[in-house]
Amino acid sequence: MGALAALAVLGTHPASSMANERAETVSGTAPTPPMGFNPYNAFAVDVTEDQMMAIARKLVDSGLAEKGYRYVNIDDGWWIKREANGRLEVNTKAFPSADLGNGETSFLPFVTGLHSMGLKAGLYTDIGRNACSQAWRADDPNLPVGTVAEREIGSMDHQASDMRQIFGDWNFDFIKIDACGVADFEPDKANVKDGQFRSFGPWMVRGRNPSPDDAKIERLYATLNSDIAKVRPKRDYVLSICNWGEANVAAWGKHDGNMWRTSGDINASWNSMLANFDSAAANPGAAGPNHWNDPDMLEIGNGEFDANHLVEARAQISMWAIISAPLLIGSDITKWPQSLFDVAGNRDVIAIDQDVAGRQGVIVSKTNEAEILVKTLALSDTRAVALINRGSKPISLSVMLSQLGLPSNVKATVRNLWSGQENPLDGGAISASLAPHETALFRVTVNTRP
Ligand code: GLA
Repeated sequence: MGALAALAVLGTHPASSMANERAETVSGTAPTPPMGFNPYNAFAVDVTEDQMMAIARKLVDSGLAEKGYRYVNIDDGWWIKREANGRLEVNTKAFPSADLGNGETSFLPFVTGLHSMGLKAGLYTDIGRNACSQAWRADDPNLPVGTVAEREIGSMDHQASDMRQIFGDWNFDFIKIDACGVADFEPDKANVKDGQFRSFGPWMVRGRNPSPDDAKIERLYATLNSDIAKVRPKRDYVLSICNWGEANVAAWGKHDGNMWRTSGDINASWNSMLANFDSAAANPGAAGPNHWNDPDMLEIGNGEFDANHLVEARAQISMWAIISAPLLIGSDITKWPQSLFDVAGNRDVIAIDQDVAGRQGVIVSKTNEAEILVKTLALSDTRAVALINRGSKPISLSVMLSQLGLPSNVKATVRNLWSGQENPLDGGAISASLAPHETALFRVTVNTRP
């Protein structure tokens, strides 16, 4: 996007009026992007109560919870089967507190434990009959067991009763709803042919976007949203759509959920992070309070974003912050050195992500190596600016005040949100010399208008 196009978007929010017309249909519990923890990037689907509680305690003890990281979300891997009466049964080997001792299972003790720590609790399901782990991790020891019907732990055909169980009986606050059940169980799949799973559709083919079946996908999410609302009429929940940017979700996600994935799964490599960032950064008009583009979880602490790669770790959270992305940590924080807590816990950076205006930053300029984004903050005449070195060579970048939608003859204060240095700016430009993969994140505040 050129500077002029960026300026046109800065002050306005093209999609917000449309979203407002149907605003009463989505929960109002995510006025700023949700923050917390999801275990998938750390533990895949082999998640246990011990791990989740250790993470929860660390969120509290490290101060991350107080800084906003409150959602503790279980991902795929929690279920053992669907009972004949339709109820979902929890894997009590992994989650012992769910064993009520009378043949019944319940997450209520786990959820209540998190609530008593001042945290929120999230769970995971699928819009189809089966989950992603069943499609992609056939050899995992932690998959549902039993007959074909017992292993149909996805929400399809059980929407109302599953949402009653999860949001009524179990009192969860957040749900991530995946979509492999409608994408990965087509008739010619080996595990469908050999009778392990019932065939389905597919209604979603990755990359075939838009497709004639998109409305059916939206309907499945809309049904779950309204079924949750029946149990929780105050709409005190967050619904996270996970269909990887398919089915034209950017057009309807805001009506049926609070955030929607814009791409496939992130992994802990620089290039994967960039690709996921780009998928969300491309569509700033879709985001706003209670409805966010979701480029997937933070990889801080993992692989190319671990404690030996603090430049990259800082870059990812800076980039997520400038585009108002949900901040869900996906790494085992019980093993983190202080340096990683300092990255994830930088209050100034979190404040950019959580700015109450909820205006996703827009791209001012972009090449393969260099990218500049600007975000208009709630406080008048205040901007956040990210200067991003996407490449592997040092570069220098600069941006003019006029490119931020500010008059070039004003006096401003520029705060570098990583070094904490504050400098006066008398007109002119904001510049930075950037190491490979470095992002500089600034807050620019106009002091006085001429
Ligand atoms: C999909 C999702 C991931 C994760 C896994 C779990 O791949 O996109 O975020 O939930 O399923 O199996």
